[in-house]
Amino acid sequence: MLAGRNVANLFFEDSTRTRCSFTLAARRLGADVIDLTSAGSSVSKGETIVDTALNLQAMGVDAFVVRCAAAGGAHLIAKSVKVPVINAGDGRHEHPTQGLLDVLTLRQSLGDLSGRTVGIVGDIVSSRVARSALFAITSLGGHVVLIGPPTLVPRSFERFDTSPGTVRVSHDLDAELPKLDAIMMLRVQFERSGGGGGGGGGGGAIISGDYREHYGLNQARLNRLPLHAPVLHPGPVNRGLELDSDVMDDPQRSLILPQVANGVAVRMAALRIMMANRA
Ligand code: NCD
Repeated sequence: MLAGRNVANLFFEDSTRTRCSFTLAARRLGADVIDLTSAGSSVSKGETIVDTALNLQAMGVDAFVVRCAAAGGAHLIAKSVKVPVINAGDGRHEHPTQGLLDVLTLRQSLGDLSGRTVGIVGDIVSSRVARSALFAITSLGGHVVLIGPPTLVPRSFERFDTSPGTVRVSHDLDAELPKLDAIMMLRVQFERSGGGGGGGGGGGAIISGDYREHYGLNQARLNRLPLHAPVLHPGPVNRGLELDSDVMDDPQRSLILPQVANGVAVRMAALRIMMANRA
């Protein structure tokens, strides 16, 4: 479908799953892929990401996939170039294709999400995955409980409860477990703990031992989840912190690798939809 077209991956922040799955998705559709990271590009010499994108567009790039540390980075590029831009994660803001692959994985496991409750646990304040998953789940009629310590899950997140009763904040994981239809664990974002991006919170606000005791998913907590409730995590995982190894590797309950597999399909769909109507 995309034979003869060029997709440029602009990854100004580290990535394993998202970058490789966008590359595989583009190649499976027949496109050629250019891979750029800050380290090997003129961004390290001070060129702006918009100038970088304009130069690649001048070479005939047909679409951009952008990851960057600044919220709004992909949007900034989209305003300057004439070709489609897909946000592959912008700072703490959003990660739309992750939200889509999360709901695809949840639907494969649970069927219709309407009236189902998904617990999203951990470093919500720094998580672009949490925001995109929340919008995707509630768009499909599901409910979301954002769970974690007050430093990482401020009450202000209840502002996303636009259709009343669909989004709650809780600081008590053990009380929520029996009520969940699925649980999504998030990585503690130690690299965003400096607070430079605004919004505070992040890994710096936690003490690992305490965090694991109150919010880590271990076998005992897994046993208190309903049997039908799967475990998700966007990766990369801090094994033994937010998620114990035996839970992560449990083939019956963990959907972490199926999430990764679904990422390729979802990104193929996104590229096809974004690029289909353009010659
Ligand atoms: C996430 C990201 O980079 O936002 N990973 C991913 O894309 N699968 C989550 C994270 O880094 O914790």
